[in-house]
Amino acid sequence: MPAPVVGIVGAGQLARMLHEAASALGINTVVLANSHDESAAQVAAGVEIGSPDDLDALLRLARRCDVVTFDHELVNPEHLAALADEGHVLRPGPGTLEVAVNKLEQRRRFEAAGLPVPAWAKATQAVEITRFAERHGWPVVVKASRGGYDGRGVWICASPDEVTAVARMDAGGVFVVEEFVVLEQELAVLVARRPGGETAVYPVVETVQRDGVCHEVVAPALIGEELAAKARQIGEAVAAEVGSTGNLAIEMFVTDGKLLINEIAARPHNAGHFSIEGCVTSQFENHLRGVLDWPLGDTALVAPAAVMVNVFGNGKVAEPAGKIPEATAVSGAHVHWYGKGSRPGRKLGHVTTLGPTADEALARARAAAFALDPREMGR
Ligand SMILES: Nc1ncnc2c1ncn2[C@@H]1O[C@H](COP(=O)(O)OP(=O)(O)OP(=O)(O)O)[C@@H](O)[C@H]1O
Ligand SMILES: [Mg+2]
Repeated sequence: MPAPVVGIVGAGQLARMLHEAASALGINTVVLANSHDESAAQVAAGVEIGSPDDLDALLRLARRCDVVTFDHELVNPEHLAALADEGHVLRPGPGTLEVAVNKLEQRRRFEAAGLPVPAWAKATQAVEITRFAERHGWPVVVKASRGGYDGRGVWICASPDEVTAVARMDAGGVFVVEEFVVLEQELAVLVARRPGGETAVYPVVETVQRDGVCHEVVAPALIGEELAAKARQIGEAVAAEVGSTGNLAIEMFVTDGKLLINEIAARPHNAGHFSIEGCVTSQFENHLRGVLDWPLGDTALVAPAAVMVNVFGNGKVAEPAGKIPEATAVSGAHVHWYGKGSRPGRKLGHVTTLGPTADEALARARAAAFALDPREMGR
């Protein structure tokens, strides 16, 4: 049997780590990259240069592959339909991607399926947001329905003036307005799924956000077994609802001891990077297995605790890659570097450590991350 070829739309760090898992299994990857400098384009077996907004580039990629998957969901639905029309296999499919890219559609679908979501409303004008806030109380959270990531496209509005400012900034946009949830914890559930519906669910993790961006992940989440079981159950229900293939990440809030769904991503996710060393089968390997319709691998943790700390560009250390040897000197630190240029706030890499407890593992992961990003100091 010739090696299967998986095409990946996008060439960021998720595509790069998919390639690493693919390589071990004798799967070839071809990535669609804007340039040869992009993270995954530096390593993939094949690179197709072009924009994900360009149908011709997408078709060139698809014609080189057995199945097309995605490093991000921002692909024109008409282009996805054109790829499907030409007989290409898209996994996840256009229906799943459309929900994953659209926060409004997520709120609608999950609520209709009886799944728990924050109080929300659709808004296209400032007055609709203000009316919602008058019913539910200030502050409210306003989100661009499409296109947000890493906290961009999410605004907390505490007054009508702030609503006006957001609406002006994003004139003509479609928003979701929702209640400001008092967060006890944020959790994520990762579900790998085959086209026929078989799933493998990862241990529930806790994600720690700062300024709307994930900084640390702790596996397993320090929560009771009942809440963990409920989170996994919601994760599986969401995966079935959107008919995902490959990895689906479901972000959740814990408030007042209860779970609410925040949002989903239909691809490998930052909350699952720990699984490369932390689980029997990583999220990247299970994503590939899912999209190729292979048997899914065991998702169990291989240690009592696994933690991940992200490394960001900080504008002070121009070439943090030079510090990698220092970071690797921390015992048990698994350093992952994405090969991206350093810019303030940009995710450049991550560190995973395993340990007998989350605290013990976190101390070492932070020490290694500190070598690469001195902002980590003082925590
Ligand atoms: N309704 C809410 N109440 C309180 N905090 C919220 C609410 N919605 C979002 N947040 C906070 O903002 C963060 C980012 O929101 P969200 O996940 O919707 O945005 P994103 O930019 O798509 O995220 P990502 O970083 O996952 O790409 C959440 O992880 C959470 O910390
Ligand atoms: Mg999020």
